[in-house]
Amino acid sequence: MPKTAIYPGTFDPITRGHEDIIIRATKLFDRVIVAVAANPKKQPLFALQERLDLAKAVLESCPNVEVLGFDDLLTNFAKAQDAQVILRGLRAVSDFESELQMACMNRHLAPQLETFFLAPSEQYHFLSSSLVREVASYDGDMSEFVDPLVAKALKLKKV
Ligand code: COA
Repeated sequence: MPKTAIYPGTFDPITRGHEDIIIRATKLFDRVIVAVAANPKKQPLFALQERLDLAKAVLESCPNVEVLGFDDLLTNFAKAQDAQVILRGLRAVSDFESELQMACMNRHLAPQLETFFLAPSEQYHFLSSSLVREVASYDGDMSEFVDPLVAKALKLKKV
Protein backbone atom coordinates (compact mmCIF):
# COMPACT_ATOMS: atom_id res chain seq x y z
CA MET A 1 0.00 0.00 0.00
CA PRO A 2 1.45 3.44 -0.91
CA LYS A 3 2.40 5.38 2.19
CA THR A 4 1.68 9.06 2.66
CA ALA A 5 3.45 11.11 5.32
CA ILE A 6 2.35 14.55 6.40
CA TYR A 7 4.99 17.01 7.62
CA PRO A 8 3.22 19.87 9.45
CA GLY A 9 4.63 23.16 10.63
CA THR A 10 4.29 26.91 10.38
CA PHE A 11 7.23 27.24 7.96
CA ASP A 12 7.66 30.97 8.66
CA PRO A 13 9.76 30.64 6.53
CA ILE A 14 10.89 27.22 5.29
CA THR A 15 14.59 26.67 6.17
CA ARG A 16 17.37 24.33 5.06
CA GLY A 17 16.59 22.30 8.21
CA HIS A 18 13.03 21.70 7.03
CA GLU A 19 14.30 20.88 3.53
CA ASP A 20 16.72 18.36 5.03
CA ILE A 21 13.86 16.51 6.78
CA ILE A 22 11.67 16.62 3.67
CA ILE A 23 14.39 15.20 1.38
CA ARG A 24 14.98 12.35 3.86
CA ALA A 25 11.23 11.67 3.95
CA THR A 26 10.94 11.53 0.14
CA LYS A 27 13.19 8.45 0.24
CA LEU A 28 11.01 6.68 2.81
CA PHE A 29 7.45 7.50 1.71
CA ASP A 30 5.61 7.44 -1.60
CA ARG A 31 4.01 10.81 -1.00
CA VAL A 32 5.12 13.57 1.35
CA ILE A 33 2.68 16.38 2.14
CA VAL A 34 4.23 19.52 3.54
CA ALA A 35 1.30 20.90 5.52
CA VAL A 36 1.66 24.62 6.16
CA ALA A 37 -0.42 25.61 9.19
CA ALA A 38 -2.22 28.95 9.16
CA ASN A 39 -1.29 29.17 12.88
CA PRO A 40 -2.54 32.74 13.64
CA LYS A 41 -1.47 32.21 17.31
CA LYS A 42 2.16 32.59 16.19
CA GLN A 43 1.45 35.84 14.30
CA PRO A 44 3.61 34.75 11.37
CA LEU A 45 5.79 37.24 9.50
CA PHE A 46 4.73 35.71 6.16
CA ALA A 47 1.04 35.32 5.29
CA LEU A 48 -0.13 31.75 4.71
CA GLN A 49 -0.14 32.23 0.92
CA GLU A 50 3.43 33.60 1.01
CA ARG A 51 4.62 30.65 3.11
CA LEU A 52 2.92 28.25 0.69
CA ASP A 53 4.44 29.96 -2.37
CA LEU A 54 7.93 29.91 -0.86
CA ALA A 55 7.71 26.25 0.17
CA LYS A 56 6.37 25.28 -3.27
CA ALA A 57 9.15 27.17 -5.06
CA VAL A 58 11.89 25.73 -2.82
CA LEU A 59 10.58 22.15 -3.16
CA GLU A 60 9.75 22.35 -6.86
CA SER A 61 12.29 19.69 -7.84
CA CYS A 62 11.00 17.06 -5.36
CA PRO A 63 8.59 14.92 -7.41
CA ASN A 64 6.74 13.19 -4.56
CA VAL A 65 6.21 16.32 -2.44
CA GLU A 66 2.98 18.32 -2.28
CA VAL A 67 2.67 21.59 -0.39
CA LEU A 68 -0.78 22.30 1.06
CA GLY A 69 -2.15 24.83 3.54
CA PHE A 70 -4.43 23.90 6.43
CA ASP A 71 -6.37 25.59 9.20
CA ASP A 72 -7.84 22.62 11.04
CA LEU A 73 -6.86 19.98 13.54
CA LEU A 74 -3.84 18.25 12.09
CA THR A 75 -5.44 14.83 12.57
CA ASN A 76 -8.53 15.89 10.57
CA PHE A 77 -6.36 17.24 7.78
CA ALA A 78 -4.20 14.09 7.78
CA LYS A 79 -7.33 11.90 7.54
CA ALA A 80 -8.70 13.99 4.67
CA GLN A 81 -5.41 13.46 2.84
CA ASP A 82 -5.36 9.70 3.53
CA ALA A 83 -2.04 10.03 5.34
CA GLN A 84 -0.83 7.19 7.56
CA VAL A 85 2.09 9.02 9.15
CA ILE A 86 2.73 12.37 10.83
CA LEU A 87 6.34 13.35 10.42
CA ARG A 88 8.22 15.60 12.83
CA GLY A 89 11.86 16.65 13.08
CA LEU A 90 13.78 16.26 16.34
CA ARG A 91 16.68 18.70 16.55
CA ALA A 92 17.66 18.49 20.21
CA VAL A 93 16.57 17.01 23.53
CA SER A 94 14.67 20.25 24.17
CA ASP A 95 12.30 19.39 21.29
CA PHE A 96 11.46 16.02 22.81
CA GLU A 97 8.98 16.87 25.55
CA SER A 98 6.63 19.01 23.48
CA GLU A 99 6.93 16.63 20.53
CA LEU A 100 6.00 13.65 22.69
CA GLN A 101 3.02 15.58 24.08
CA MET A 102 1.85 16.42 20.56
CA ALA A 103 2.37 12.87 19.34
CA CYS A 104 0.33 11.49 22.27
CA MET A 105 -2.49 14.00 21.76
CA ASN A 106 -2.57 13.21 18.04
CA ARG A 107 -2.69 9.49 18.84
CA HIS A 108 -5.68 10.06 21.14
CA LEU A 109 -7.43 11.98 18.40
CA ALA A 110 -6.54 9.54 15.62
CA PRO A 111 -5.19 6.17 16.84
CA GLN A 112 -4.58 4.94 13.29
CA LEU A 113 -2.01 7.71 12.62
CA GLU A 114 1.60 7.05 13.64
CA THR A 115 4.08 9.84 14.39
CA PHE A 116 7.60 9.34 12.99
CA PHE A 117 10.57 11.44 14.10
CA LEU A 118 13.54 12.19 11.86
CA ALA A 119 16.77 13.93 12.88
CA PRO A 120 18.07 16.64 10.55
CA SER A 121 21.78 16.87 9.63
CA GLU A 122 23.92 18.12 12.51
CA GLN A 123 24.63 21.43 10.76
CA TYR A 124 20.93 22.32 11.14
CA HIS A 125 20.38 21.30 14.76
CA PHE A 126 20.49 24.91 15.97
CA LEU A 127 18.26 26.29 13.24
CA SER A 128 14.76 27.68 13.70
CA SER A 129 12.59 30.00 11.64
CA SER A 130 12.57 32.68 14.34
CA LEU A 131 16.40 32.71 14.50
CA VAL A 132 16.50 33.01 10.71
CA ARG A 133 14.04 35.93 10.87
CA GLU A 134 16.16 37.60 13.53
CA VAL A 135 19.43 37.22 11.59
CA ALA A 136 17.65 38.57 8.50
CA SER A 137 16.32 41.57 10.40
CA TYR A 138 19.95 42.62 11.08
CA ASP A 139 21.02 41.96 7.47
CA GLY A 140 23.02 38.89 8.52
CA ASP A 141 24.19 36.32 5.98
CA MET A 142 21.43 33.75 5.52
CA SER A 143 22.92 31.75 2.66
CA GLU A 144 23.63 28.70 4.82
CA PHE A 145 20.22 28.68 6.44
CA VAL A 146 17.66 29.24 3.68
CA ASP A 147 17.19 28.88 -0.06
CA PRO A 148 18.14 32.06 -2.02
CA LEU A 149 14.42 32.59 -2.82
CA VAL A 150 13.62 32.69 0.90
CA ALA A 151 16.56 35.01 1.58
CA LYS A 152 15.20 37.39 -1.07
CA ALA A 153 11.69 37.27 0.42
CA LEU A 154 13.10 38.02 3.89
CA LYS A 155 15.00 41.03 2.51
CA LEU A 156 11.84 42.34 0.83
CA LYS A 157 9.92 42.04 4.13
CA LYS A 158 12.44 44.40 5.74
CA VAL A 159 11.94 47.23 3.26
N1 COA B 1 14.79 22.78 10.82
C1 COA B 1 14.70 24.05 11.19
N2 COA B 1 13.78 24.52 12.04
C2 COA B 1 12.90 23.64 12.51
C3 COA B 1 12.92 22.28 12.17
C4 COA B 1 13.92 21.85 11.29
N3 COA B 1 14.05 20.58 10.90
N4 COA B 1 11.93 21.66 12.82
C5 COA B 1 11.29 22.60 13.54
N5 COA B 1 11.89 23.79 13.35
C6 COA B 1 11.56 25.06 13.98
C7 COA B 1 10.51 25.83 13.25
O1 COA B 1 11.08 26.63 12.24
C8 COA B 1 9.89 26.64 14.36
O2 COA B 1 10.67 27.76 14.60
P1 COA B 1 10.09 29.06 15.33
O3 COA B 1 9.18 28.63 16.43
O4 COA B 1 11.34 29.68 15.80
O5 COA B 1 9.40 29.86 14.29
C9 COA B 1 10.02 25.73 15.58
O6 COA B 1 11.02 24.81 15.25
C10 COA B 1 8.77 24.98 15.88
O7 COA B 1 8.17 24.73 14.64
P2 COA B 1 7.27 23.55 14.24
O8 COA B 1 7.86 22.29 14.69
O9 COA B 1 6.98 23.69 12.82
O10 COA B 1 6.05 23.80 15.14
P3 COA B 1 5.02 24.85 14.94
O11 COA B 1 4.73 25.36 16.30
O12 COA B 1 5.36 25.86 13.94
O13 COA B 1 3.87 23.94 14.34
C11 COA B 1 1.97 22.58 14.37
C12 COA B 1 3.13 23.18 15.16
C13 COA B 1 1.44 23.54 13.34
C14 COA B 1 2.44 21.33 13.68
C15 COA B 1 0.90 22.23 15.43
O14 COA B 1 0.62 23.38 16.19
C16 COA B 1 -0.37 21.73 14.80
O15 COA B 1 -0.45 20.58 14.45
N6 COA B 1 -1.38 22.62 14.65
C17 COA B 1 -2.69 22.29 14.08
C18 COA B 1 -3.76 22.27 15.16
C19 COA B 1 -3.67 21.00 15.94
O16 COA B 1 -3.94 19.91 15.45
N7 COA B 1 -3.33 21.14 17.22
C20 COA B 1 -3.18 20.00 18.13
C21 COA B 1 -1.78 19.47 18.05
S1 COA B 1 -1.56 18.15 19.19
